[in-house]
Amino acid sequence: MNRPPGDADGVSPPPLSPRQPLPLLPLPLLPLKLPGLEAPGVALALADIGSPDEDAWRTLRDAWLTAAERAEHATRGVPARRREWLAGRVLVKQLAIGHQLAASPQDCELRVDAKGRPRLALSEAGAWRDDGRHDCSISHKNTTAGPVALACLAPEPGQRLGVDIEEVSPRLVKLRAMFEGPEDRLLGEPSPEQRLTTLWALKEAAAKVIGLGVGVGLTTVACQETAPGEHRIVIGDREMTARTADWRGCVVVLASAPSDRLL
Ligand SMILES: CC(C)(COP(=O)(O)OP(=O)(O)OC[C@H]1O[C@@H](n2cnc3c(N)ncnc32)[C@H](O)[C@@H]1OP(=O)(O)O)[C@@H](O)C(=O)NCCC(=O)NCCS
Repeated sequence: MNRPPGDADGVSPPPLSPRQPLPLLPLPLLPLKLPGLEAPGVALALADIGSPDEDAWRTLRDAWLTAAERAEHATRGVPARRREWLAGRVLVKQLAIGHQLAASPQDCELRVDAKGRPRLALSEAGAWRDDGRHDCSISHKNTTAGPVALACLAPEPGQRLGVDIEEVSPRLVKLRAMFEGPEDRLLGEPSPEQRLTTLWALKEAAAKVIGLGVGVGLTTVACQETAPGEHRIVIGDREMTARTADWRGCVVVLASAPSDRLL
């Protein structure tokens, strides 16, 4: 099959005309209006990313990624992994453009630190501003209903964010010793699957706020539900809050903390 221009390794796609409308994700963004998950000063986006239309994904890649991002995208293994990686970036960029932080996808770039934490670099007056002042976070999940991507962005500086989406399943029961801690408390009487999925998602989101890498002891992260769907999370001498919501059999978590509280 003929490959479209720009698909060969190292070849840049032709630039889009400024008047050409930006392609959106092959499937539309889902409105994420989950009771309790709206946090002040945080923008969230969720998208179905199950479309197998490879042409649409390539169009999306060429329109939304910078040259550096396209080079990184090419290194991501299987197509499903490339799609979720791309989708997370498109979502963050859509939020950045929607909040007037960037004029176009080429004026913002997702970069990662040594442990994989993403940050948004913004083009200002011809130079990149790369201090991560508008924090962002990404999660994706291959759910029973299909793969989804979730992203959040802080339109105002001063907050660190972490999101996670996990499908409720018995899978975590066997792994509970790896992440459940003695101080974890949830309200009500959730089933073991619901409890463990919620704790797992809370701890993963908290790990993303701080930017911890794989292998950090999640049993030392203490999660306490203070009101239905509202949580206090303590990691050593650092503290943050989180909100949880149920969506299509998944637990969705948004964790946040003022940046200066995490120093
Ligand atoms: C990094 C980590 C948070 C990713 O979570 P996950 O549930 O596997 O995957 P998700 O889809 O929810 O999140 C993936 C996204 O997290 C982001 N991410 C990766 N490393 C990160 C870090 N150190 N800090 C914050 N965000 C990070 C990336 O944006 C990534 O998506 P991308 O690669 O497409 O850009 C997780 O693997 C991790 O390391 N947790 C730390 C604790 C731990 O060791 N847990 C597992 C063992 S018990």
